[in-house]
Amino acid sequence: MSIKQHQHAHWSSRLAFILAATGSAVGLGNIWKFPYMVGESGGAAFVLVYLLCIALIGLPILVAEWLIGRRGQNNPANAMADLAKAAGKPKAWMLVGVSGILGAFLILSFYSVIGGWSLYYTLNSVTGAFSGQDADGIGELFNAMLASPGLLLAGHSVFMLLVIGIVARGVTKGLEGAVRTLMPALGILMVVLVGYGMTTGHFGEALAYLFNPNWSALSGETVLAALGHAFFTLSLGMGIMMAYGSYLGEEVNLLKTARTVVIMDTVIALGAGLAIFPIVFANGLDLASGPGLIFVTLPLAFGNMGAGIVLGLMFFLLLTFAALTSAISLLEPVVEFVEERTPLSRVASTLVAGIAAWALGIAALLSFNLWSDPVLFGLNVFDLLDKLTSKFMLPLTGLGVILFTAWQLDRHAVAKELGLSGAGETLWHAVTRFIAPIGVAVVFISSL
Ligand code: PFF
Ligand code: NA
Repeated sequence: MSIKQHQHAHWSSRLAFILAATGSAVGLGNIWKFPYMVGESGGAAFVLVYLLCIALIGLPILVAEWLIGRRGQNNPANAMADLAKAAGKPKAWMLVGVSGILGAFLILSFYSVIGGWSLYYTLNSVTGAFSGQDADGIGELFNAMLASPGLLLAGHSVFMLLVIGIVARGVTKGLEGAVRTLMPALGILMVVLVGYGMTTGHFGEALAYLFNPNWSALSGETVLAALGHAFFTLSLGMGIMMAYGSYLGEEVNLLKTARTVVIMDTVIALGAGLAIFPIVFANGLDLASGPGLIFVTLPLAFGNMGAGIVLGLMFFLLLTFAALTSAISLLEPVVEFVEERTPLSRVASTLVAGIAAWALGIAALLSFNLWSDPVLFGLNVFDLLDKLTSKFMLPLTGLGVILFTAWQLDRHAVAKELGLSGAGETLWHAVTRFIAPIGVAVVFISSL
């Protein structure tokens, strides 16, 4: 797989690895999902719980996934099975790997639909569709897209084709290069957009909204949403980070690397919030407008600022790239699994997995128009896929990962592998044996 080739490239393996892991982590979750979840959940209280979840639960699980992958040197399901066997534990731990792979498949199906929106908006910025529009005009553009199954299908199909094409070739050599230019470019653009937010006169309001909590707005439901998003945004509970870890050398410091990836992911998400909320307040837009939030706010800014066409084009291109690098990481473990369990070749496996995810994605995109009726638990297909993965599968798989690492593997060997001793070791064990699993369990049970 990709990272193995990357190690032979002329970057240090640590840098190549950070780039691939960051490419998976930074995506639609940061720029599309995080802001609208903040908006739906009432602001700062959600943000602070989210940050807590990232630090106390997300970071340790990220490290645990890499550790399992590095030791297993195999795909997530096999790695779990082998490590369990070596430690004399039940082989059933393998199910943690399997459920991760299934989750990746389900996420990919609806992730690609949003990737399609991003493609369509890239096109819209070139044609100047945002120029001079007011909030109503921009809203109309978005609603017209949602109302058109054909348009959504076209975007979803092109996006999935790109993903399939890249993965079928075994992930292009250009991927890490793309990520390496993408991150700084995204960072710079974010600064520009936050700068624009400052000119709206509503930046202070946005800051307060994001960081000054009103704790009464917090519910069990919100905490579960924050936890689920912590998993989603770091690509955890999907076997992905395990698969990436399996290409790691012993010399890489997992804790330090995890800190780097987590910081980049968090900075991009908060940057997106700081760019979007001033525009929401300045235009009296609906905070809880859900998945459409960035598509009805940012174009408003692009349509009414100097160089808006160029900046809009850059933004949606970058968003599409970020979505692609994450989607690739979603398809990869599914393909590996199909390839190993069936006689199919890599290309055939990619086609089978990709086409299956594409077909499921069609049900997801019809949720916005022809098939908006609830199918289960009062949710339509899109919401069902989103909630099922973020709120159930990711946290449960992550819980399995952390319990396995903390309680089934030799704790002293783990501490040694992470370069921990003394207080650091005690802290690591306290977090991974108790704080993180109990946190996940409590949030999970209280939300039921
Ligand atoms: N972490 C990606 C994002 O924030 O957009 C999305 C994602 C990728 C989720 C891979 C899950 C995953 F396994
Ligand atoms: Na992310």
